[in-house]
Amino acid sequence: MLRVRFEVNGGPEVLFTERVRVPVPGPGEVLLRAEAIGVTLPTVRKVREGDGPVPLGGEVAGVVEAVGEGADFAVGERVTGLCFAHAYAEYAVVPAAFASRIPDAASAATAIALVRSGLVARGAYEAGSPAPGGSVLVTAAASAVGSLALQYARAGGAARVVAAVGSPDKADFVRALGADEVVTYDAADWGDPYDVVLDGVGGELLGPAVRALAPGGRLVAFGSGGGTVEAYELLVRGASVIGFQMAVIARGRPEVYARWLGELWDLWERGVLRPAVHAEVPLAEAARAHAVIERRENLGKVVLVP
Ligand SMILES: NC(=O)c1ccc[n+]([C@@H]2O[C@H](COP(=O)([O-])OP(=O)(O)OC[C@H]3O[C@@H](n4cnc5c(N)ncnc54)[C@H](OP(=O)(O)O)[C@@H]3O)[C@@H](O)[C@H]2O)c1
Repeated sequence: MLRVRFEVNGGPEVLFTERVRVPVPGPGEVLLRAEAIGVTLPTVRKVREGDGPVPLGGEVAGVVEAVGEGADFAVGERVTGLCFAHAYAEYAVVPAAFASRIPDAASAATAIALVRSGLVARGAYEAGSPAPGGSVLVTAAASAVGSLALQYARAGGAARVVAAVGSPDKADFVRALGADEVVTYDAADWGDPYDVVLDGVGGELLGPAVRALAPGGRLVAFGSGGGTVEAYELLVRGASVIGFQMAVIARGRPEVYARWLGELWDLWERGVLRPAVHAEVPLAEAARAHAVIERRENLGKVVLVP
């Protein structure tokens, strides 16, 4: 089968294709014939900035080809899940605990755009728990997670939903998803203070994001950009910062994970959540997909197609 890998850190050009044997699922795992594979910012970062070669992990959606002992799936079922080793391949092994069925009406690309990103958006939104009628700012609002977080905020009854993005070119996209206002990161003024900030960027943006909080406001940090929060900035606002990571829920609270998954597809079926696919790129051209994210151009999810 075809697989994409890298051996040295660098830009998208370090990715290469190779032919390897189809893997065999172990106990508690399923083998998927991939129909769509998600490209994520953390993976793009690992290629550029990590400590040498690691398998390219990510979301995979496809058809169950083989089932390991104890995995509660059947050959032929359509499933999406997280693959921690070699997701960029025609066949991928996924732990059953991180896999779920795809409704008949949904395409593999929709599953990739909705499930992982929707779960993160859902979790970040709940961690911030904005009161109906309040104000919410979402950073990286055009990203896969951000675009769904924006929709959660809108559906949750916030009176004011503001999208923060890197470029004004993204304004029409985020407005169409429900943003009342759009700010770019370089704006001197991010508008009236916010009750909740859902931040998927971190790093140098963490400072302005905390300073955008209203008294008693909450910032949910869920991005892979790291960063440092000045305690003084929290103190003067009586504000708080909450971290959120989906893996903590998936591993520690599987019943919550399962409930959120069910809710996610229900919201999709009712048209409340509209996951956006920016582009479907052939697997062998994974470097092109990484370049889209490195240039910060994507409007929604970047998907690889074997
Ligand atoms: N906590 C969790 O469990 C969890 C799980 C998955 C993902 N995440 C995080 O959620 C965030 C969004 O992920 P995603 O998969 O939705 O992203 P994505 O769809 O790949 O979108 C990437 C977007 O992020 C923004 N961005 C911010 N800093 C960037 C950087 N240094 N390089 C490139 N793009 C950057 C860019 O938009 P702008 O220029 O408009 O900002 C870019 O278009 C990431 O930080 C990711 O690590 C968290």
